[in-house]
Amino acid sequence: MNLLIHLFVGLHIIGIASLLGGYLTQLKALGGQGTARFTPLMLRGAVAMLVTGVILVGLNRADDQDVDNAKIGVKLALLIVILALVFVKRDETEVKKPLFALVGLLTAANIFIAVLWT
Ligand code: HEM
Repeated sequence: MNLLIHLFVGLHIIGIASLLGGYLTQLKALGGQGTARFTPLMLRGAVAMLVTGVILVGLNRADDQDVDNAKIGVKLALLIVILALVFVKRDETEVKKPLFALVGLLTAANIFIAVLWT
């Protein structure tokens, strides 16, 4: 079971790489051409975070391991906002800068919540 949990933590991290990686390429585009959009890579990464996160909660519960409900609740709430924004604006070729910045901030916040909230 432990191996399975670690495997899903690995997939969870691939999800962050996709969400954040997609974001960073757009940050570069924003600096270069002056516009940015939410890419399919970001959407897939956000969906992967949700799916692997929910599976991780299930696996930890099934294995009688404690899950910090408050921490997971905050991460889930922030991710739902990220996912909703990226999904709704997925076809827009130009996203307004404050909205683009918000998704970056929420993603970074979730990463620091994951590693600092112990
Ligand atoms: C952008 C959003 C998210 C980021 C950046 C993120 C990041 C991380 C990171 C870095 C880890 C490994 C370190 C740790 O164990 O804390 C982790 C583990 C985990 N995450 Fe997430 N996460 C996100 C969303 C979610 C969501 C939405 C859920 C649940 C619905 C979730 C559930 C979990 C669980 C259960 C673990 C394993 C904890 C353990 O085994 O001790 N995560 N997450």
